[in-house]
Amino acid sequence: MGEIRFLEDHRTWVLTGTSSTYALRLDEDDVPAHVYWGPPLAAADVVELAGKTLPWWDGFNDPNEGLGELAADGGTRYWTPALQVRFADGTRALEWRYETHEITGDHLAIRCTDRHYPFRITLHYRLRGDVVERWTELAADTEAEVIRADSATWALPVFEDYRLSHVTGRWAAETQLRRVPAPHGETVFASRRGITGHHANPWVMVDDGTATERHGEVYGVALAWSGSWRLTTTRSSTGRLTVSGGFGQDGVVHRVGPGKPLTTPIAAGLYTRGGFGAASRAWHAYVLDHVLPHPGELRPVLYNSWEATGFDVTEAGQRALAERAAALGVELFVMDDGWFGARTGDHAGLGDWQVNRERFPDGLGPLVEAVHGLGMKFGIWVEPEMVNPDSDLYRAHPDWVLHHPHRRRSELRNQLVLNFARPDVAAWARGWLDRLVGEHGIDFLKWDMNRPFSEAGWPGEADQDRLWVDHTRAVYALMDRLRADHPGLRIEACSGGGGRIDLGVLARTDQVWTSDNTDALDRLRIQHGYSHVYPARAMSAWVTDNPNFVTARSVPLRFRFHVAMAGVLGVGGDIVRWPVEDVALARDLIALYKDIRPVVQHGAQYRLRPPADDGVTALQYVHGGRAVVFAYRQAAHFNAPERPLRLDGLDPAARYRDADTGRTHSGAVLLAHGLVPALPAGDFASTVVRLDRIKI
Ligand code: DGJ
Repeated sequence: MGEIRFLEDHRTWVLTGTSSTYALRLDEDDVPAHVYWGPPLAAADVVELAGKTLPWWDGFNDPNEGLGELAADGGTRYWTPALQVRFADGTRALEWRYETHEITGDHLAIRCTDRHYPFRITLHYRLRGDVVERWTELAADTEAEVIRADSATWALPVFEDYRLSHVTGRWAAETQLRRVPAPHGETVFASRRGITGHHANPWVMVDDGTATERHGEVYGVALAWSGSWRLTTTRSSTGRLTVSGGFGQDGVVHRVGPGKPLTTPIAAGLYTRGGFGAASRAWHAYVLDHVLPHPGELRPVLYNSWEATGFDVTEAGQRALAERAAALGVELFVMDDGWFGARTGDHAGLGDWQVNRERFPDGLGPLVEAVHGLGMKFGIWVEPEMVNPDSDLYRAHPDWVLHHPHRRRSELRNQLVLNFARPDVAAWARGWLDRLVGEHGIDFLKWDMNRPFSEAGWPGEADQDRLWVDHTRAVYALMDRLRADHPGLRIEACSGGGGRIDLGVLARTDQVWTSDNTDALDRLRIQHGYSHVYPARAMSAWVTDNPNFVTARSVPLRFRFHVAMAGVLGVGGDIVRWPVEDVALARDLIALYKDIRPVVQHGAQYRLRPPADDGVTALQYVHGGRAVVFAYRQAAHFNAPERPLRLDGLDPAARYRDADTGRTHSGAVLLAHGLVPALPAGDFASTVVRLDRIKI
């Protein structure tokens, strides 16, 4: 458990995490200023640092530059602004000062106010192990425009060098890890799309350029937000680097005034030692302990019909898939797109959420009953925020979509975005979702979102820009409401694959659809990038057919399973057509997955070898006395030497038994020397090794 203390004589707050310390103080102007973030430091030591600012020796820089706890724009503060306000009289510079603070357990609120205008700024801090959650709350008695409202500014120690780790990508190639020297000046990672995005993900890690998977100090910042966002790293010539971030985007203004406060989402910051591996494990532990709504659950093995049937959904077809899925050992059957309205392709029907009676003459009831009768839970695909112009909903409510009066309504995938910031739209969505879930006893929603915003206007509304924030908040509120009203309901977040993966959506869903790319080889890279912040417990991964739907590559079934088994296993192929030998293998591998699932879903993950075009990729999970190792070799090369995989996270004093071969190994040897996994010959070879600590 952490502790938060205020050292009154030094006007300094010290936040002591499990293995880290964070400290801030009030500067000479009574403004919160950064003091320290890093390895554990006693309060007595922290005070030695407080107040050591650079002397004001030139006329061009602020001596405190880069040290604002929330870099507010104004005065001689030229740093990347984290807070920019324009008051009603046109004044833009903020002059703020501390008023009071409260410490309530692991929560600190520092209340400040503008020196002249009735504008209040509260900085919030909450300790979650070594994660410091931060957010900003703004309130005003007279109208003010907030041009930028970051959740937090994070100042890093002055290092000799800095390096950034982040992910980039695109549809079907999300979360590609990049590690680059931190450029001087400002580097912006952002989404202006109204969704989290496939092209970037709202987190960044910073190290001094020397950290490896197993060694070194790593700082990380991640945002809990599923709309537009922005994270800026600023590196100055004086050697300092900050990370500032929050929701919003350039040009979109928030209006704050009487009865209209603004609270930013959480920005979570984490300092760790032990390399990128330890950093990721600390993020996973945070997500499991403090973010996911039902972290203790084991996620069921899922079947999803999308790649098998596309839009060709019929009751008979779904029943046949469900029967085969149950026989394989699947626990949750999910019917994807194509079950409602005129949705026989992506051109029509979105928004008309009545079951298609040509496809389901007696409604959804018989299929849901059949699936439940087979001993599986029933899940269904929905895309509540979207509408096809060719739909009864759009014909009745053309004003419900984001639009500007004299501009075209740009379609992507033949669809437009419903404005969930409108209370009538949100109420409509709640109505049909509540009925759908309640009337049919639906256990699981796959909540999709297949395009970003465009022409994001709201004619008739005085403050149109608020839709950027309020849309996301309304989606969150609806998910929260549905969960509260249907406690058994579980949700998978999806946005054309991995376009909506972030700490915000993970707080109200149970798993995320990682990517529409189910090619096992491409998945190794996607899953590698994903794993830097997000846990296997939430990573939905399906085994699909050969040749792959997206890449046209064919990969052996065992390899496809082994890759998907490193997360929340699902099956998404046309299993009715699978040959008997594939069915038998799938049944065995699903049974194996159920055995190792507690280790994979709740264990600590070690990335033993990152994906490479050549060689072996390997991952390990450890939970209690059990360890599971996955090893994958893409291509075999003649006479290539086998390198042992040095394992991690084991007890060096214990012995471990291989559950398949019965062979025993010393923990110390596995850690110091390693294990040579028995990979079969040839390309696309893979194996799963189960090691159990031997009780003495
Ligand atoms: C995008 C999702 O990522 C797919 O899995 C599938 O649900 C389609 N949408 C359906 O339209």
